[in-house]
Amino acid sequence: MYPIQRNRRLRSSEIIRSLIRENVLTPNDFIVPLFVVEGKNLRESIPSMPGYSRMSLDLLAGEVKSLWQLGLKAVLVFVKVPDHLKDNKGKEALNKDGLMQRSVKTIKDAVPEMVVMTDVALDPYSSFGHDGIVEEGKVVNDPTVEVLSQMGLSHAQAGADVLAPSDMMDGRVLKIRTALESNNFKDTLIMSYSAKYASSFYGPFRDALDSAPGFGDKKTYQMDPANRSEAVVEALRDIEEGADIVMVKPGIAYLDILREIKNAVNTPVAAYQVSGEYAMLKAAAEKGWLNHDTVMLEQLLAFKRAGANLIATYHAKEASLLIS
Ligand code: PBG
Repeated sequence: MYPIQRNRRLRSSEIIRSLIRENVLTPNDFIVPLFVVEGKNLRESIPSMPGYSRMSLDLLAGEVKSLWQLGLKAVLVFVKVPDHLKDNKGKEALNKDGLMQRSVKTIKDAVPEMVVMTDVALDPYSSFGHDGIVEEGKVVNDPTVEVLSQMGLSHAQAGADVLAPSDMMDGRVLKIRTALESNNFKDTLIMSYSAKYASSFYGPFRDALDSAPGFGDKKTYQMDPANRSEAVVEALRDIEEGADIVMVKPGIAYLDILREIKNAVNTPVAAYQVSGEYAMLKAAAEKGWLNHDTVMLEQLLAFKRAGANLIATYHAKEASLLIS
């Protein structure tokens, strides 16, 4: 009770504050999303994601070397698939010489220790822009899960360390885990997007990969933003099915979910600060309405405080430059 207790004593100097600080950001916290395209010497800017670009395979090696030098140790790979290779069943996703598979090899050749994570979902490969196979206007679960398990296996065969299923089909973690075990990929990790919400914050990402749904929305598989308990159910089921890390997505607007899951599980928990969040800060900073760097670090720190062990973020590179 005041004046015996004075809360400001612990804030009286930067030295005291640093000694008692509960969370600190380091490059070890970050996962760097990378967008890869076919072609040569391409670094294509994405209008709704200022400062971020899609790059061709030949530029990927240099990029991951510079990430490694910054202390960044994990990348999450997404590919932009040419229209003529898209179909309903995502056949191209299984091509062992496909863009994803070649990207994994390129990264591993450039920096063997880099942890390579791959997005496992059909949307970039789907002529409908959905995360699953469409039958009679509906995204069907079980046939999709079959393809996803082969897709995951194909990424592991290409050298991926971590598979990141982002599709929200039921049972996909179990099917992927089973495919890995029966093919002797016993150390391949699964980082499941367990609580992935049907969010409007993904808009710029869909611009980047040209992967917006051609009809309808994703509400029959991605979660309702109104729900919290359901997120815990999703995470617990994914862990039972063999996930090593569970993820919450989007980020800042879902920190309550992140903490809820952190309290409910004993595995590491990841958060994904998505494209729309990145775009919002860039836009506000461009207008001079927010201080870009300090807001960025405050947001990233909020993820740690909320319980994230890992943060997938488009700010990884610029944040690492500031904190190391
Ligand atoms: C695809 C996928 C999406 C994102 C990651 N994987 C988009 C979606 O579900 O429509 C979004 C990432 C972002 O917005 O940064 N399954």
